[in-house]
Amino acid sequence: MSGNPVMCVTGANRGIGLELARQYLADGWNVIATVRSMDISDELAIVVEAYPNLRIEQLEIGDAESVRALAERLSGQPIDLLINNAGTFGPLPFVENIQKQRFGTVDLDVWSDVLRVNTLGTINVTEALVDNVVASDKKMIVTLSSGAGSIGGSDRTAMAYTTSKAALNKAMTIVARTLQERDVVVAIMCPGYVRTRMGLGGGDVDVDESVAGLRSLISGFTMADSGTFRRYNGDVIPW
Ligand SMILES: NC(=O)c1ccc[n+]([C@@H]2O[C@H](COP(=O)([O-])OP(=O)(O)OC[C@H]3O[C@@H](n4cnc5c(N)ncnc54)[C@H](OP(=O)(O)O)[C@@H]3O)[C@@H](O)[C@H]2O)c1
Repeated sequence: MSGNPVMCVTGANRGIGLELARQYLADGWNVIATVRSMDISDELAIVVEAYPNLRIEQLEIGDAESVRALAERLSGQPIDLLINNAGTFGPLPFVENIQKQRFGTVDLDVWSDVLRVNTLGTINVTEALVDNVVASDKKMIVTLSSGAGSIGGSDRTAMAYTTSKAALNKAMTIVARTLQERDVVVAIMCPGYVRTRMGLGGGDVDVDESVAGLRSLISGFTMADSGTFRRYNGDVIPW
């Protein structure tokens, strides 16, 4: 990898993760993009063709052995910016899934799986790669959470998804305070309601605009931003 900064993004096979990889590569960064399966999407294959400074790595964030193996492969590799992007809304199809996340018909197995990936998996990846971040120049960790995890929100559905993000938010504020002494900025961000697979056919914002907003904010982050929760447009989100 060249002397330019290194960004590592999880869940880069599609959606926001793919666009984060694409925009940082276009800006000259070296990018490590993780995917669940090395049988990558056509969209990611096009990016692989275009950018030699892109490294693809396999990672299933809910699998502790997969996380450990990635950390071993990346041992000694500084990471200026780690973006925890990988996440799940729960199993498809959506209509059945949403029923399983509604109070009254909650499916505890679905809830447990979503927590294991979105909350435990994200924290596990962060722990596994923290020394790589500390060894870099910029020392930043950004986690994509969701405004849907805000306790004061009015959601009546998606019990598994929203609680997984609420718990992730709390955990990341602890990570932020813990890593302050190692000069690492830890920010929590919501990309907006984005037109991706997770957006389920809806959305208020296109993925390129959301990612441009996230990148613009990230580029200005200092230690004063550590532990904060912001939307892609800069709005502060109440917990
Ligand atoms: N879209 C929205 O409106 C929205 C709003 C708020 C927050 N977010 C957050 O933004 C992030 C990205 O969302 P998105 O809209 O881009 O979703 P997406 O289109 O569904 O893409 C999710 C990505 O995460 C990967 N992934 C899922 N589970 C994983 C696991 N266990 N291990 C490793 N990778 C995994 C997927 O891999 P595969 O390609 O193999 O499935 C995919 O590449 C998520 O954390 C999400 O919660 C999204």
